[in-house]
Amino acid sequence: MPERAPPTPHFLVEPVEELDDDDLAALCEATDAAIIDGGGFGWVNPPGRRALETYYRGVLLVPERELLVARMDGTIVGSAHLVKPPRNNEAQSFAAQLMHAFVAPYARGHGLARMLTQGVETRARELGYHVLNLDVRETQTAAIHMYETLGYERWGMHPNYAMVRGKVVQGFYYFKRLKQRKTAAPDA
Ligand SMILES: CC(C)(COP(=O)(O)OP(=O)(O)OC[C@H]1O[C@@H](n2cnc3c(N)ncnc32)[C@H](O)[C@@H]1OP(=O)(O)O)[C@@H](O)C(=O)NCCC(=O)NCCS
Repeated sequence: MPERAPPTPHFLVEPVEELDDDDLAALCEATDAAIIDGGGFGWVNPPGRRALETYYRGVLLVPERELLVARMDGTIVGSAHLVKPPRNNEAQSFAAQLMHAFVAPYARGHGLARMLTQGVETRARELGYHVLNLDVRETQTAAIHMYETLGYERWGMHPNYAMVRGKVVQGFYYFKRLKQRKTAAPDA
């Protein structure tokens, strides 16, 4: 009998307001795997399952944050945060931030990070933001390639951006215009 091709995985990106036990476990598993792989978003070493669960429960409670998750065949394998500007920052109220994006090593190479980034952009547009800011370590070459091909412009470099296993790592700062906007008057 001819061998059947394996079924094509199903991919989905969506904002979440709550996580059931299975979703929380999968998100923590994916986060652990990405941290162990050296994949950024702050942690250098896995903080432990309980700390991660508390962290994600906390993220869902913060009004200035929205959590978007990437699913492969229904299981969470990555996430990203859309961070809204603080309410007292009227002058920058048009700009949101994309933070902590990652896809677990076992789900990479399927276009999920691209979907996740575009999902955050879509949500930011829906909320009326005109600009999305983000920053990455210089060592995150896959992310740098992806953001640049998605139209993010590098505007700065921080020479002391992070410290990873005793080594100073540079960071790159990017922005993308989500909507065209009138430039400010000279005295603004
Ligand atoms: C960066 C990351 C999110 C990419 O996840 P992914 O799901 O494999 O990415 P995609 O499949 O959507 O691919 C996105 C692009 O990155 C490219 N890419 C993926 N891995 C790459 C690598 N190791 N080197 C160079 N480019 C790479 C892909 O070729 C693709 O570009 P293309 O569409 O022009 O071919 C993932 O590697 C990761 O989580 N890394 C650690 C955390 C991180 O860097 N987060 C981002 C900054 S906070």
